[in-house]
Amino acid sequence: MAVPNFVWFDMLKTGFLSSLAVPEIVRIRRENNLSRQYDAKSVLITGASRGIGKQLAQDFAEEGARCLLVARDAEALEENRSRLPEPDRHACYPCDLSGKENVDAMARQVLAEHGPPDILVNNAGVSRYTLFLDTPIEEHEALMQINYWGMLYCTYAFLPAMLERDSGHIVNLSSISGKLGTVRHTAYCASKFAVAGFSDSLYFELLGTGVNIMIVNPGVVETHLFDHDSFLDFPDEVRKMMKPPHLLTGAILRGIRRRKYEVTFPRGLWAGVVVRAVWPPLYRILQARFLKIRRKRPGASA
Ligand SMILES: NC(=O)c1ccc[n+]([C@@H]2O[C@H](COP(=O)([O-])OP(=O)(O)OC[C@H]3O[C@@H](n4cnc5c(N)ncnc54)[C@H](OP(=O)(O)O)[C@@H]3O)[C@@H](O)[C@H]2O)c1
Repeated sequence: MAVPNFVWFDMLKTGFLSSLAVPEIVRIRRENNLSRQYDAKSVLITGASRGIGKQLAQDFAEEGARCLLVARDAEALEENRSRLPEPDRHACYPCDLSGKENVDAMARQVLAEHGPPDILVNNAGVSRYTLFLDTPIEEHEALMQINYWGMLYCTYAFLPAMLERDSGHIVNLSSISGKLGTVRHTAYCASKFAVAGFSDSLYFELLGTGVNIMIVNPGVVETHLFDHDSFLDFPDEVRKMMKPPHLLTGAILRGIRRRKYEVTFPRGLWAGVVVRAVWPPLYRILQARFLKIRRKRPGASA
């Protein structure tokens, strides 16, 4: 019996597509076989009491790492530690990262008890969704203090020992708001652009050493970051785009494995970054349209 033409076409098409998929399948299988590849590695995660940091601890612990959990909420840290695989392997270091003395004390204790971490994840951070003039100066300062200075204090505290050992990995959680100006985020954007500039510069200093640095630019991820009252009128269209934390943390672990410098998640957000870099006016027009904000014409009444 003759096989109809469209069936041949379908078979050819799926055969061709599956041959394209083979390298991807091989890669995924290879990566799955690499589980527990962080055996005997220590990972210090700031902001590990909830959200992305909590999920990162889970992922690293499942791959065999020793997790050193840092945040202010000691009870939450302890509870998270007790739920990780082999809880006794991990340790908690409650610390308010907005003070340099606190970070130095925490780092001294960590270095004495475990030596320099193999991976330092500067993840702790806060956000606000407020107009610039409605944001008290203290809020601007507080966001910079934790999002930028907290990251810097930790890097300052652990990098010398990593360099001495000539190995290590620093992961800085920035944001897509560290690449693009997002609305009602003046304080947050400023702090994340600072993280991005710091990381871009440090990358070149570390190139000839055994220490790597990676920056992560997430879009919106479903966490407690949005619990603050200022997010009550955060747009539904953006809320609908929120991704579960495990998808981001999977991308972070892959990025570390492949020694990437930059991870943007979801990857589609790169389109905005490229348009902003190549043709900034077009980016501003598209962003204003998305936000439904019209430019005031000269002389027009408000
Ligand atoms: N969720 C997103 O959509 C998104 C998008 C882009 C970037 N990010 C970035 O991802 C990182 C993690 O955020 P998340 O979404 O997981 O938020 P989250 O659920 O609110 O968690 C924030 C973490 O930071 C810790 N933290 C805050 N202030 C601290 C301080 N002064 N000292 C020590 N720890 C402090 C908190 O712990 P304690 O309160 O116990 O101290 C908590 O563990 C942040 O840097 C954020 O900017 C998130």
